[in-house]
Amino acid sequence: MDLKQKKVYIHTIGCQMNVYDAEQMERGLSPIGYVRTPEIGDADLILLNTCAIRAKAEQKVFSFLGRLVKLKNERPELIIAVGGCVAQQEGKRILSRAPYVDAVFGTHAIGRLPEIIEKIRAGQGPVVDVALSAGEAAFNPFPMSDTGHHPPEKSISSFVTIMQGCDNFCTYCVVPYVRGREASRHPDRIAEEIRTLVAGGVREVTLLGQNVNSYGKKEGLPTFTQLLERISEIEELSRIRFTTSHPKDLSDELIGAFGRIEKLCRHIHLPVQSGSDIILSRMNRKYTRKEYLAKIDRLRGLCPDIAISSDFIVGFPGETGADFQKTLELIQQVRYDSLFAFKYSDRPQAPAARFSEKIDEAVKAERLGEVLDLQQRVTLERHRSLVGQDVQVLVDGYARKNEGRESGRGIQWTGRTDTNKIVNFYGGQDPENTVKGDTGACGEEIFSGRMISVRIKDAFPHSLSGVPLHPAAIGPGTKGEKHHAA
Ligand code: 5AD
Ligand code: SF4
Repeated sequence: MDLKQKKVYIHTIGCQMNVYDAEQMERGLSPIGYVRTPEIGDADLILLNTCAIRAKAEQKVFSFLGRLVKLKNERPELIIAVGGCVAQQEGKRILSRAPYVDAVFGTHAIGRLPEIIEKIRAGQGPVVDVALSAGEAAFNPFPMSDTGHHPPEKSISSFVTIMQGCDNFCTYCVVPYVRGREASRHPDRIAEEIRTLVAGGVREVTLLGQNVNSYGKKEGLPTFTQLLERISEIEELSRIRFTTSHPKDLSDELIGAFGRIEKLCRHIHLPVQSGSDIILSRMNRKYTRKEYLAKIDRLRGLCPDIAISSDFIVGFPGETGADFQKTLELIQQVRYDSLFAFKYSDRPQAPAARFSEKIDEAVKAERLGEVLDLQQRVTLERHRSLVGQDVQVLVDGYARKNEGRESGRGIQWTGRTDTNKIVNFYGGQDPENTVKGDTGACGEEIFSGRMISVRIKDAFPHSLSGVPLHPAAIGPGTKGEKHHAA
């Protein structure tokens, strides 16, 4: 084995699951001598981590690959490997479209990535590995504790996969075909990984699964709520988030966890997809609008301030103007904190690709615009109602705009409330409004990873801004008590 240090560039397209998988790939390659580089030009190995959820994401994969031809021609020893959902879906067809690709590895092959790369280095390529395995073997092949490889420095928030795959077969969705059957990871493994993350400075974890509400059912493991309870016992961990929940499986037990488990953030992503029962049934979602709304009522009954977000698909085959109006009404009725909306996109493996009454692209675009405009108004109204309130912000780091440069008002910091709202504030110089830490002028040490009380002063469509309250508001990674104006 050649142990000389080599560089891997990882390009990730798609969801949080892929971001997590990219970290797994990085960890797996470290023992065979690869370190991650942010510069594609420096790479000895390029990994493309792909998404198949909509046609547009898939197109991105092939346009990215197209741009690699030149690099490969200049340096034939460069290794190009394609992983993730498009790799799983297309398998060796990727090699016919892009013959310069050295490896295609599917969503369950991450554990075999080091062997795959070694094979190519030994001249035994190209390799195609898209076998789907069952159970634990399918995921988390490289626990952090094994390699001593910690999360990226100063990372406050981290994803942790607790489940793989999906058994729901919504008719528009490719996930069950490219991620395989649902499988849950053992709670001991999950807790171990979170403890390692926390030791590296992480204060917030987001538990990932296609449908976390059915966690452990197949395997006879503890329920998802019991898992949350167990994780919440990890000291130094301030916040727990999770995504995604299928509304049909949202149990009263989990609803009850909001407000009861202190570290559980008051936010739930509850994708509804459509406000029309006819469309919901054709989507095979297995709930009605009424049942969905009843769950929202129960959530708000127990936890009035809970933030609720959702996903919507517009222009599903057969969606009439009346169906679409029902979607708009639902958005108005629920008054979501935020939402994601997508134009329906045919996925060849998913049954809806063969449904008739396809909707015109122009109509889809119009409907998408209406949904987004409506939600933008609702979000802004919701944000404005927070002006004057004091919120607890877990600070991520520098706000993107100033990247830590000092303005006359200090350094701008950014973080999130437990309800997942972005809050920016200045800190570092202004004696009136600054929360001072104990490490002096260099802000990073002072604020990142801290829970800070901020009084909201201004509301924008995508964020809020405010001023930090009195120094007493600082707690190193603690949840912090409610603070009122000094
Ligand atoms: N077309 C459009 N949007 C889709 N989604 C999933 N499949 C499709 C598709 N074929 C959306 C759903 C899901 C989100 C992750 O992506 O809204 O919740
Ligand atoms: Fe896709 Fe439905 Fe499974 Fe979500 S629940 S991943 S939309 S099949």
